[in-house]
Amino acid sequence: MLCLSSEQEPPDMQCEHLHPGRPGGSLIEDVRRGLLDSPRSIPCKYLYDEHGSKLFERICETREYYQTRTESGLLNDACTSIIETSQPEQLLELGSGNSSKIHVLLDSCRKLNLDCSYMPLDICEQAVTDACRILQHKYSWLEIRPMVGDYIHSLSSLASAPGRRLYVFLGGTIGNLEGPERQCFFAELLAAMNPGDWLLLGADREKDPTILNAAYNDSAGYTARFNLNVLNVLNRELRADFQVEQFRHQAAYNTRLKHIEIHLVSQQAQRVSLQEMKADVHLHEGEKILTEISRKFTYQGLNELLEQHQLQVAHHFQPDNQYFSLVLARYSP
Ligand code: TRP
Repeated sequence: MLCLSSEQEPPDMQCEHLHPGRPGGSLIEDVRRGLLDSPRSIPCKYLYDEHGSKLFERICETREYYQTRTESGLLNDACTSIIETSQPEQLLELGSGNSSKIHVLLDSCRKLNLDCSYMPLDICEQAVTDACRILQHKYSWLEIRPMVGDYIHSLSSLASAPGRRLYVFLGGTIGNLEGPERQCFFAELLAAMNPGDWLLLGADREKDPTILNAAYNDSAGYTARFNLNVLNVLNRELRADFQVEQFRHQAAYNTRLKHIEIHLVSQQAQRVSLQEMKADVHLHEGEKILTEISRKFTYQGLNELLEQHQLQVAHHFQPDNQYFSLVLARYSP
């Protein structure tokens, strides 16, 4: 468990812990597969411990990171239409973080007299409980079922509940899932969905690389701190001895592969020991550890991705500058 809450939660804010329906997803397994092998990588979900989740909120407020602002503008304009079309009885948000984006959707449900419950799911327990406390205070009528877990490997455990669901997956996080991970995510999602359920997906678009590079290299340095913080997570959880100042944040758009590649670069030859795993890692000077890929999509590419998975696009919202997409799709197998 990454984020332990120190206080006792009131019983209604206790989180349900989801268990993976598929192999993969434990820190030791992930690190063995990613970090002990080369090229080296660390799965991006470990970026979001309590401190990382807070740093990520700072990134979202930076001038360079246009995504959060753009998406929330779209959400504000489209929320009534989204709720009218999908008529949800449950809102299930994947990677809910501080739950700041769900307010507009809840307000729309209220306006349209829809009785809707809220199920946030995030890897960080502290983020979920803090967010739910605030939400419950503002929406005293709202039934909240907080959940902690990994939405890539665990969604199928939420299958076959009655009531129409709107799955909400925002922030462009779909772009962080590649290859087998993306396949696993869709397989688990579709296993959880009933025909007639909906998905609201936020995804970042291809654009001028200068804008993309700036978004992942903000001048205040929050992205660098966020990226480097994953080493603190490993130090704590695996009794490792990474010296954080011996690494550098690097993020660059790969114009051929249409994605941002985010790395930590070893500033010198060094040996790191992972006591919990009784393993050492030898890094050479300039060696890179991949911490995140962030794919950028075209309008057409997104529609195709959804339709490949029997998700029929009902609305595709985008701003005039076409920086970001918000897509509402219905599961129609
Ligand atoms: N989902 C976000 C994105 O792809 C995550 C993110 C933003 C991120 N900045 C980052 C992940 C920096 C790692 C490092 O835009």
